Amino acid sequence: MLYIAADHGGYPLKEELKEFLAKEGYETVDLGADELDLADDYPDYALKLAEQVVQDENAGGILICGTGQGMCMAANKVAGIRAVVVYNEFTAQDAADHLNANVICLGGRVTDAETAKKAVKIWLDTEFSEDERHIRRLRKAEEMEE
Ligand code: RB5
Repeated sequence: MLYIAADHGGYPLKEELKEFLAKEGYETVDLGADELDLADDYPDYALKLAEQVVQDENAGGILICGTGQGMCMAANKVAGIRAVVVYNEFTAQDAADHLNANVICLGGRVTDAETAKKAVKIWLDTEFSEDERHIRRLRKAEEMEE
């Protein structure tokens, strides 16, 4: 399952990405915000989405705030989350094949919609490399959760 959520900094981009993903044939579950609310807080959405993603190893999540940074910081507090900020095609590729990221975080105020669409598509279409060095590095990072 593919989850998506955003605070007010990412709300317009979330709406645009949802439409794009539907056209591309992806089913997404929108965990909010349901409307533009300038007073909402990114950790609330990051937690909601992270809790869903860790329940299913095949699940993925897209979090969007103004920069992607707050969402990323908050989501990574949840054990099992590998969230990274993605802001172009290169970081999207790396997120998938090197980092096996189960959550990508976008910045609605820093990445234009066309770039975001390309980046999301790359992340979704790219498999984790399974290279020993990447598995080793991810394991080391995961051990820090213990
Ligand atoms: C909200 O104003 C903004 O700080 C938030 O969307 C995000 O950019 C944090 O990283």
